[in-house]
Amino acid sequence: MNITTSNKTRLENVDFSNLLFGTVFSDHMFSCSFTNGKWQVPEILPYGPISFNPGLQVLHYGQSVFEGMKAFKNKNNQVLLFRKEENFKRLNKSAVRLSIPEIPEEIFMQGLNKLISLDKDWCKYGPEYSLYIRPFLFASSECIKASSSNEFKFMIITSPTSTYYNQDLNLVVEEKYTRAAKGGVGFAKAAGNYAASFYPTKMANLKGFQQVIWTDSSKHQFIEECGTMNIWFRVGDKLITPSISDTILSGITRDSIITLARDLKIEVQEKEISIIELLNAYNSGNLIEVFGTGTAVAVSPVKSITYRNNLMSFDSSIDSFALALKEKLQNIQRGEESDKYGWTSKVI
Ligand code: COI
Repeated sequence: MNITTSNKTRLENVDFSNLLFGTVFSDHMFSCSFTNGKWQVPEILPYGPISFNPGLQVLHYGQSVFEGMKAFKNKNNQVLLFRKEENFKRLNKSAVRLSIPEIPEEIFMQGLNKLISLDKDWCKYGPEYSLYIRPFLFASSECIKASSSNEFKFMIITSPTSTYYNQDLNLVVEEKYTRAAKGGVGFAKAAGNYAASFYPTKMANLKGFQQVIWTDSSKHQFIEECGTMNIWFRVGDKLITPSISDTILSGITRDSIITLARDLKIEVQEKEISIIELLNAYNSGNLIEVFGTGTAVAVSPVKSITYRNNLMSFDSSIDSFALALKEKLQNIQRGEESDKYGWTSKVI
């Protein structure tokens, strides 16, 4: 790997008490090109502009996938990565679906470790702090023929972060637009999935909702995800979440929450959930809590769900599964609770 370090850190210009998610970037970035049918020698260089011509394939056809992962500082000033193998596997799963060559494990892991170790001071110790890591792959041929690119770039950038949402989460059930259809790319972290979600989200924002609940593409009757998160419902003392399918992203936080909930002796059920079932549970007083999970948000309580003329409101301030699970997850991520599943790894 070729490494060029920056002459001067930008750390002192950053106000860590006022971080807006995804707007501040650490000193270095990782980059590796796929040309002539193979991944080339990777490099780490100071974070900064990259140059390309307007014919860059990804700008025209969106052949691009990404990951979201996090590193945390423990109290001994060590940086812990959370479930990096899972992100690696999912990135390659997404890559295959978008006809992008898979990244060799060595390139991903060595690049990740070296990058985070160089920028470890950007990862702060403290209850809400983490370093958000964004690995991404994109088509980099200069060619506007509508076919798969021959050249690609794999990059990793990192961004210090605190909380993702600092407002209540009021959701509306989306019955017109669709996030993902069967046989499509919903299970992949394809850039285009997010692009397609912005307009429906903007429409929901105009009506006073922060995010939408995505439903199935054919009848809009079954719940899939909310915003960029997997969604969870507490019905009585049971947690239910939509089962994974080709229209639902297989969240690593989702998977971790299933394990942690079962550890806390909470029954977890993965199944198809209809909106009518949810409404009935709410009307009979059994739908107690709703929350979303994702890397960026960890666990985020939902304040309300609107479905047509029905408003369902939730209070996560008392006896909350969401908050108990969030605490357990974050304690493991920060090395404050024993990591019996071997989810964390130190950056050296
Ligand atoms: C994540 O939780 O990493 C996400 O995918 C959300 C991101 C698009 C900000």
